[in-house]
Amino acid sequence: MKYLIFSGSLRTESLNKKLATVASSILAEKSDTETMLVNMRDFNIPVYDGDIEDKSGIPDGVKAFGELIKNSNALIISAPEYNGSIAGSLKNAIDWLSRIKPFPFEGKPILLLGATPGGFAAIRGLSATKVPLEALGAIIYPQTFGVGKAHEIFSKEGELTDAGTKTRLAGTLDKFDVFAKRFQ
Ligand code: FNR
Repeated sequence: MKYLIFSGSLRTESLNKKLATVASSILAEKSDTETMLVNMRDFNIPVYDGDIEDKSGIPDGVKAFGELIKNSNALIISAPEYNGSIAGSLKNAIDWLSRIKPFPFEGKPILLLGATPGGFAAIRGLSATKVPLEALGAIIYPQTFGVGKAHEIFSKEGELTDAGTKTRLAGTLDKFDVFAKRFQ
């Protein structure tokens, strides 16, 4: 199984990047698994503007990101919650990616993770993140994985120090792995 894993947040100290990194290292321990952890910032995705697309086409970074998605068997996205919804950085990337045909997300099983310092485990953000991905043909694993008070559970180095959360995450990843293999 080839997994592509990324955070919908661009910022360096992102809790969602930390969660995505931990998920990637847990999955990498499986024998039949290849993981690719990418940083969305590296693709230099501009704010979607139809004039840019008309003048210069789809930006190279979006195309490169789309190729990685196409070449993966499944995705794990750690999605921040902004104002009870999907963060603009992630929605913008999805909007650009939707300009590639066929849609890179079509038929891809996706596990959504979400980390927030708030108390409600990014649940509304995760629900909102499903909407555009499902519109593009992705198969969202029904059990999303949200973490509240996430600023308290990572060490400075990004290690997940809360044993309960780590066990819960590993369990979700195991179940998602079984689910995702059905669509290979
Ligand atoms: C937030 N944050 C936030 N948190 C939450 O649980 N529910 C929310 O609705 C919002 N709304 C929101 C809007 C905006 C504009 C910002 C900048 C932040 C807090 C957010 O969860 C926090 O900044 C996380 O740390 C963002 O994720 P990363 O960057 O750490 O991955």
